[in-house]
Amino acid sequence: MKRLKVGDLVIYIFPGVYEPAEDTYLLLEVINRRSLDGLRVLELCTGCGILAVAAALKGASVVAVDVDPLSAANAFLNARANGADNVEVICGDLCSAISQAASFDLVLANPPYLPSEGNRRWSAKPRLLGRLLKEAMVVLKDGGVVLLVESSLHPLPRIKGAEYSVVGRRRFLYEEVRVVEITPHL
Ligand SMILES: C[S@@+](CC[C@H](N)C(=O)[O-])C[C@H]1O[C@@H](n2cnc3c(N)ncnc32)[C@H](O)[C@@H]1O
Repeated sequence: MKRLKVGDLVIYIFPGVYEPAEDTYLLLEVINRRSLDGLRVLELCTGCGILAVAAALKGASVVAVDVDPLSAANAFLNARANGADNVEVICGDLCSAISQAASFDLVLANPPYLPSEGNRRWSAKPRLLGRLLKEAMVVLKDGGVVLLVESSLHPLPRIKGAEYSVVGRRRFLYEEVRVVEITPHL
């Protein structure tokens, strides 16, 4: 098992679980700039749980979801290891295990976004991103926002009636990775 020190966090990575990378750290930077105190946050595609833990330590109450049982177990361990008691980890497919509509102030995700089939940790199954966006809109409270990572190689589907703004970006040789804030129009 790997052990990373990321700022004040100590993050363990089980073999086979997505290891935090540039896309993770870009979204982490955006989260760290925000005030999350008292917010209800849903992190989809949590992997080792680093973003969920960071949000929880900023005062949010967090539900973290991953479809992969090993990732969910890894996120649970990292929440405990960092004293983030306000993280609930669920093993499930996107929002399928979230029973209450309109219950989150913020939904965030660094989903698998690359346009190819294969390893689900970083390859998007067709329609995954569209499904994620639609499901996120259902669980969002009025006034809530979504923060998602996208690649210029595979931009997020645009939902009618929602506003998209780029709140973080990093340029690589072949692509730009961005954090997009999506605000549904009321
Ligand atoms: C790119 S990794 C991101 C992990 C972590 N959030 C990070 O930024 O380092 C994507 C994660 O999405 C999970 N995933 C893939 N399909 C999913 C689905 N349908 N529902 C929930 N999680 C899913 C994978 O198991 C993987 O852990």
